[in-house]
Amino acid sequence: MLAGRKILLIITGGIAAFKAIDLMRMIKKAGGDVQPILTKSALEFVTPLTAGTVAGNPALSELFDLGREAEINHIELVRDADLIVVVPATGDFMAKMAHGFADDLASTAILARDKHVIVAPSMNVRMWEAAPTQRNFQTLVDDGMSFVGPDKGEMACGEFGLGRLAEPDVIFAAIKDYFFTFGENLPLKGKRVLVTSGATREPLDPVRFLTNASSGKQGTAIASALRAAGADVEFITGAADVPPPDGVNVTQITTAQDMYDAVHEALPCDVAIFCAAVSDWRPKAVGDKKIKKNGDGTAPSLEMVLNPDILHSVAQLEPDQRPQLVIGFAAETNDVVKHAEAKLVRKGCDWLLANDVSAGSGTFGGDHNSIIFFDGQGHQEWAQMSKAEVGQKLTNQITSYLKQPD
Ligand code: CTP
Repeated sequence: MLAGRKILLIITGGIAAFKAIDLMRMIKKAGGDVQPILTKSALEFVTPLTAGTVAGNPALSELFDLGREAEINHIELVRDADLIVVVPATGDFMAKMAHGFADDLASTAILARDKHVIVAPSMNVRMWEAAPTQRNFQTLVDDGMSFVGPDKGEMACGEFGLGRLAEPDVIFAAIKDYFFTFGENLPLKGKRVLVTSGATREPLDPVRFLTNASSGKQGTAIASALRAAGADVEFITGAADVPPPDGVNVTQITTAQDMYDAVHEALPCDVAIFCAAVSDWRPKAVGDKKIKKNGDGTAPSLEMVLNPDILHSVAQLEPDQRPQLVIGFAAETNDVVKHAEAKLVRKGCDWLLANDVSAGSGTFGGDHNSIIFFDGQGHQEWAQMSKAEVGQKLTNQITSYLKQPD
């Protein structure tokens, strides 16, 4: 997700400095590169060995480090980075940044910056609320820096209020957001992609409904990979076991008809992916009161009517309204290839990802998927992989397809 991104992480001295180590782990796990700089006071809380080991890059501290002077070029450090993050930022360091002090490596890097800076302050509530800090905060915002936190809560000193460092996952989300919003060269930047996901619910009466076992995990993983590639994602979801991914536009629906309406409202788009498990039918009559027992020992019978086929309706749109690429899924329990080939033609979609959802396949609700990919020319079996990898592979296929000349 952050592959190839270089983050210059400035750690200043504060009791929360250890949380910068957790943040580094998250950045590394997402494929990013971290160059840590520790101020002199940060060394009281974090050792250069810990910071350097977790980052996989030596932690730098001094502007003029004996024996390495030639190597530490603060201008190059900043030029090399894609983003600068200050975690935690003390009141003192905020003052230095606001006033252009440059008496150590960290403050010099800030003064020489040509990159965006995200600041996560951490200090005692009185220090945060103090007029000089608030003036510095305003100056730094005016200078174009963005802030995460501080949070309200109990402080290490026992006082309560604003000043706690934001949690590492929140700072991490801000970093990802920065690259999504401002990142150049993302392959799907400017592309609008619609994804349906999760299970629809068809009510029988106010307390009962018909649904299926879809967890929404595959649709969520696809939307997340598309977003990471820079796409604007319209995520239209029914019931799911997992929350929607960050950074997508979510429309929550209940029934197949709701999903149909939301999809057509969200058009036009460049690519539409239909991952939702949509109920093919719904009860003809929906009771406005709870359906009672028959009283004569018999069960009521259900009359069903067909739901609209959303994928089919989009695949059949006129060329000026139809997405360039319409992608369906096929949930099959037997004869997967035969049924999927017929489904691709019947639905009129461009690609189809077929998966075996028979009992024992572990697809519904699981974290892995075995896909057979159909592109109208033939089919290709993908090795079993995680749903996140399926999302990434599909995103790569979409990117290559959209890159082709018309
Ligand atoms: N789909 C849809 N609207 C429906 C039913 C299905 O958009 N009313 C989409 C699904 O999101 C999926 C594809 O159609 O992308 C195939 O779904 P699937 O349940 O496998 O197929 P069905 O059309 O329901 O056909 P069948 O039940 O006969 O296999």
